[in-house]
Amino acid sequence: MKKDFFNNKINRINTNSVKWDRMENLFGKKDLLPFWVADMDFAAPEEVVKEIAKRVDHGVFGYTTPTESTNESVRSWVQKRHEWNIEADWITYSPGIVFAISMAIQAYTQKGDSILIQPPVYTPFFEMVKVNERKLIESPLYLKGDRYSIDFSSFEKQLASGVKMFILCSPHNPIGRVWKRGELEKIAELCKKYDVLILSDEIHSDLVYKPSVHIPISSLNEDAENRTITCIAPSKTFNVPGLQASAIIIPNNELREKYQQQQHKQGFFTLNTFGTIGLEAAYTHGEIWLNELLAYLQENIDFTRSFIKKNLPSLKVINPEGTYLLWIDCRALNMSDEDLHNLLLTKGGIAVESGVKYGAAEGKGFIRLNIGCPREQLKEGLKKLKAALS
Ligand SMILES: Cc1ncc(COP(=O)(O)O)c(C=O)c1O
Repeated sequence: MKKDFFNNKINRINTNSVKWDRMENLFGKKDLLPFWVADMDFAAPEEVVKEIAKRVDHGVFGYTTPTESTNESVRSWVQKRHEWNIEADWITYSPGIVFAISMAIQAYTQKGDSILIQPPVYTPFFEMVKVNERKLIESPLYLKGDRYSIDFSSFEKQLASGVKMFILCSPHNPIGRVWKRGELEKIAELCKKYDVLILSDEIHSDLVYKPSVHIPISSLNEDAENRTITCIAPSKTFNVPGLQASAIIIPNNELREKYQQQQHKQGFFTLNTFGTIGLEAAYTHGEIWLNELLAYLQENIDFTRSFIKKNLPSLKVINPEGTYLLWIDCRALNMSDEDLHNLLLTKGGIAVESGVKYGAAEGKGFIRLNIGCPREQLKEGLKKLKAALS
């Protein structure tokens, strides 16, 4: 395993990094150690860096466009990693997945239409529905032991109330579930019954730990394929979110045309030169790097879980099946979210995400900890967590 590569601490201060350089602004305090935004502290795979450097050396940065080989890199990646057979012309490119979510909301729904989400969930799911003046409908996930599940009776009740679109987070940020085939089949069956479009955000789909397996909901059957818009990207997988390049896979011709028209209406035509190169290089050459990353992240998860069990037994780590984000139940501390957040900042010196960002009720008493960093940095952060809460 390339342990040295992932153990290597790279100074990111003064690189315009949101994670490191925006902390003082966002958290109101200097010298914090960051465990918040979903951005890892690892360098990208060598081949990605090499291909970008080659392009930099060329020196001419005119308009560029994804090519057949870019499409092929996406097609063969999802086939190899997720046994999903797609066609090259199902793929559209987008600078980001939050942008794509907003485009899909605008393309397929009208102001006032109902859109369903499952809190606790990634904050922009709430935001994009609200800023587009659609009606936010929620079917919260429920926690039993250390595992979240879908309450299918609430899910069906909400779909039956006239929902137009369901935004699925698969795997689910922040609770780390990798949905099982049976769960996805039930979702697809109910969306068919109530004729609801599925917008499936699969940005974390490559970050899954054995024995869990990611199944693209679109790959289940013909009906699911025809009602699903799937969003994937190399950004979380290979830690290249700054390259701003994502692939939106829409098998249904009519839905794809509507989506493309919406991007066109916003004046979007093509990706950034380096985004295109990075996406293709990552999907073409990044597999070995990813397998090594997954082994490293699994060790970080195991380390964190045993540290917390030993040193902070009142906290409960929700077992992650995917993602590098740990959802930690701190309710036994009996503290308000504000007090907990402030304590971690002032006494601990660490920046984590407050659970309430992912659902006011569902995230109450939780924090989200990003363990995508060198082990020494993680150890330092956990010591700080212990010092704050002991
Ligand atoms: C579920 C999910 N979707 C989308 C994003 C962001 O995607 P992008 O940067 O491409 O907009 C994130 C980032 O954390 C995420 O967790």
